[in-house]
Amino acid sequence: KNIALVAGGYSGEYVISVQSAVTIEKNLDSSKYNVYKIVITKDGWNYTGAEGQAIAVDKNDFSLTIKGEKVTFDAVFIGIHGTPGEDGRLQGYFEMLGIPFTSCGMVTSALTFNKSYCNKVVAALNVVNVSKSVHIFSNQPYDTKQILAQLKLPVFVKPAEGGSSIGMSKVNTAEELQPAIDKAFKEDVQILIEEFIKGREITCGLYKANGELTVLPLTEIVSSKEFFDYEAKYTPGITKEITPAPAPDAVCELIRNTAKELYNKLNCRGIVRADFIYDEANNRLFFLEVNTMPGQSDNSLVPQQVRAAGKTLQEFYGTLIEECLR
Ligand code: DAL
Ligand code: MG
Repeated sequence: KNIALVAGGYSGEYVISVQSAVTIEKNLDSSKYNVYKIVITKDGWNYTGAEGQAIAVDKNDFSLTIKGEKVTFDAVFIGIHGTPGEDGRLQGYFEMLGIPFTSCGMVTSALTFNKSYCNKVVAALNVVNVSKSVHIFSNQPYDTKQILAQLKLPVFVKPAEGGSSIGMSKVNTAEELQPAIDKAFKEDVQILIEEFIKGREITCGLYKANGELTVLPLTEIVSSKEFFDYEAKYTPGITKEITPAPAPDAVCELIRNTAKELYNKLNCRGIVRADFIYDEANNRLFFLEVNTMPGQSDNSLVPQQVRAAGKTLQEFYGTLIEECLR
């Protein structure tokens, strides 16, 4: 089977996408799959040929022509975080072409990629608590005093469509709000400002194959930094990531059930990682986000969870490909 592994992307998460693609490529079974890594950047969509030459993808049918021979793909393994691989754009393109791919479809990807809209939908689903928030736009007036009257400090300021905590700040005092908004607007034209929930950060990877939803062992993130920011996410040793999460059984069960319900109700496909905050003081679970393109770098959470489940990454990625080919 010919598999295209797409990597790169147009966002600040390009570097992580390339790292994810390295792990994925290393662990795709070469006896079953002919893997062609295609790097998508604003400068082009290219496969690197045997002689190191860049071979551009024909975007009409997502094919390559290598030494005069046309190569088409049975499936695409999308390994791009951020736009255009996580926000539904490539998903819509492959849906139009009728090429199966390993991740959630266009609508689910686009919805979950926008933290503001996703919060509203998840709140309406009534499956988990969602922190109070305000959604602002760079082309519409906003009033920081009004925002602070609506939300209790501390708050998180996040680009609505982003990842890896790029452009994100934790705001502890009123004076810090405007600079945090300015920073987030450098990344996106929409911002989510949400109340900070004090609690334990626990994340749940899950995927559907053969009609069965498998939940991977949970991970608890214990960050020594103020929050799980870019540095904490990708510098080994800064953050303790404990798999399986050492939380009480009842809490883990609640998280697993909530993640499954979200997976089904948001019509997810492939591997998804749902992130939560468990507020111990009030015994309440809060939604953080759904990642439809969770990191696959050696340092990322899902690969750790797969190993903790006693599976190899080769089995796991193979399952994702076979499922999308079904
Ligand atoms: N956005 C990063 C890659 C993650 O969710 O793992
Ligand atoms: Mg994310």
